[in-house]
Amino acid sequence: MKLKINSSGLRGELTVPADKSISHRSIMFGSIAHGKTTIKNFLRAEDCLSTLACFRQLGVEIEDDGEVITVHGQGFEHLVPPFEPLDAGNSGTTVRLMSGILATLDGLSTDVIGDASLSKRPMLRIKTPLELMGASVSGQGEKITLPITVKGTKLKAIHYDMPVASAQVKSAILLAGLNTPGETSVREDAISRNHTEEMINYFGGHCESVKGHSSVIGPQRLEGRDITVPGDISSAAFWIVAGLIVPGSEIILRNVGINETRTGIIDVVKAMGGDIKVIPDNELTATIVVRYSDLNETVIEGEIIPRLIDELPVIALLATQAKGDTMIRDAHELRVKETDRITAVATELRKLGASIDETEDGMIIHGKTRLNPVADGVTELTTYHDHRIGMMNAIAALLVDSGKVELTGEAAINISYPTFFDDLDAINHSII
Ligand code: S3P
Repeated sequence: MKLKINSSGLRGELTVPADKSISHRSIMFGSIAHGKTTIKNFLRAEDCLSTLACFRQLGVEIEDDGEVITVHGQGFEHLVPPFEPLDAGNSGTTVRLMSGILATLDGLSTDVIGDASLSKRPMLRIKTPLELMGASVSGQGEKITLPITVKGTKLKAIHYDMPVASAQVKSAILLAGLNTPGETSVREDAISRNHTEEMINYFGGHCESVKGHSSVIGPQRLEGRDITVPGDISSAAFWIVAGLIVPGSEIILRNVGINETRTGIIDVVKAMGGDIKVIPDNELTATIVVRYSDLNETVIEGEIIPRLIDELPVIALLATQAKGDTMIRDAHELRVKETDRITAVATELRKLGASIDETEDGMIIHGKTRLNPVADGVTELTTYHDHRIGMMNAIAALLVDSGKVELTGEAAINISYPTFFDDLDAINHSII
């Protein structure tokens, strides 16, 4: 894709797409609950459609009238063996959370496959706790990559201290715990997103959560519910950064989810001196207004990391436009996302003249640099099949002289944000 334009300012209003994490979970919880669940504002992007297809294959009746998705759940006990392997596509959330459910299906052996990127990602992190509970999870090599086979059994409750803060691993264990007698609990050092804990309670179950310690006493019977999915702050993040770094911008973002386990980017922008206003609509969502700003360096490390893990690529771009050296530490997890996001971010932004040192668990970004291709001719920016790298590139390209960059592989953006370029068009006041 040739991006012929740069930008003389992004101005206007956008309603960001629905939250990916909550959309996945709404299908899963609707499937293991009893009775009807309706889902409004479901994210119709490739990742969440993978989850929907997998649960249909497990025998759950799921209707989609184009507006509302209706899931007719009948509890764990009515999930049936699929005829074909379950295909999680590109989605780590699908395979990891679903494995927690599959592990509890006594006597069922299920194969799960995925695309090339997902097939490189480690599933050892779910194998370890699910096998401690009594299931079997076999896969390829030391990292236990896809295809995996999950053999379900009558599980036993465990307590698990998580070696890395991961909402996907935590959720797999809690979902398994819902169908297991006794108390299943997990502990994490830094608190990762808590949508699973919140949804257990919303669906009429009970999950206790105190200071990084979450527990369920099983078995629990969940009841179908009506859900309206809020907008995804991880998608809003691209416009937050774009508004702050493209001169002349003012962007209003509507219906952005503000669950506090997800709002690390807002804290970072404030620490950098960015002009951001968060005006709550209610407990769940807010309107966010950002304006072009002078920015200062910051340090991003420790407990905030899980609260902005998916936003770090675009935050690195933000830091290229801030004065001084911004440090990102404790983010080793970036190396095992859809691609190695530390190497991908550094490689792509360096093509535009950014000064970034890679470290084992993060980056040091030396700002402020004017972004423009360092090579002659047209510079290609690529996605590594990673939606968030693709969107970071597209926002970076807005700062570059017209016609000097070409985006490739941007179909990856459909994983989480199929209307990304329409939204960009709606607010971009291009120079040419
Ligand atoms: C997610 C959890 C995070 C995040 C991913 C979605 C979820 O992964 O990066 O995009 O929905 O639970 P980890 O829990 O592995 O950090």
